[in-house]
Amino acid sequence: ANKLGSKKERTLALIKPDVVTKIGDVLELIYSSNLIVTKAKMTKSQAADFYVEHQSKPFFNNLVQFVSSGPVVAMEVMGDEAVSLWRGLLGPADSAVARREAPQSARAQFGTDGIKNVGHGSDSLAAAARELEFFFPSTIGHGPSNTAIYSDC
Ligand code: TYD
Ligand code: MG
Repeated sequence: ANKLGSKKERTLALIKPDVVTKIGDVLELIYSSNLIVTKAKMTKSQAADFYVEHQSKPFFNNLVQFVSSGPVVAMEVMGDEAVSLWRGLLGPADSAVARREAPQSARAQFGTDGIKNVGHGSDSLAAAARELEFFFPSTIGHGPSNTAIYSDC
């Protein structure tokens, strides 16, 4: 933890095909929360591999089909409590629920439903490390770029 008692974290923010054209609005949300984007790339989604944890769920095929329907933007987002902060900025997974419960959230403002819901956010530090490695593989060694948390920075 730094001297303010908060933890500088890194998380994966994946912007889904429904809102890649609104990336500027999403970036405003990110920067207005004192988070910064430290890596970004537009890429094909590799959705089936990325969402493998959901492969037994009834929505898996729809999810993979949608997220594969166009390019996505993968970003590494860094800042104090980045993992929970980015998920909070996204809001509840279902955009309709987001509009009721978190009207300022990205999913409330820009989402359509439970699948076209703006993006993905890692749900833990371990997931963030794994998911960042998925989109931004480290080429040399296993130093800080393979961990999702920095202390004392
Ligand atoms: P989940 O990990 O539960 O939500 P979050 O994106 O907030 O971490 O679900 C992953 C994705 O799966 C979600 O963004 C959209 C899709 N999904 C559905 O299509 N239907 C559902 O009922 C759920 C729970 C998720
Ligand atoms: Mg999830």
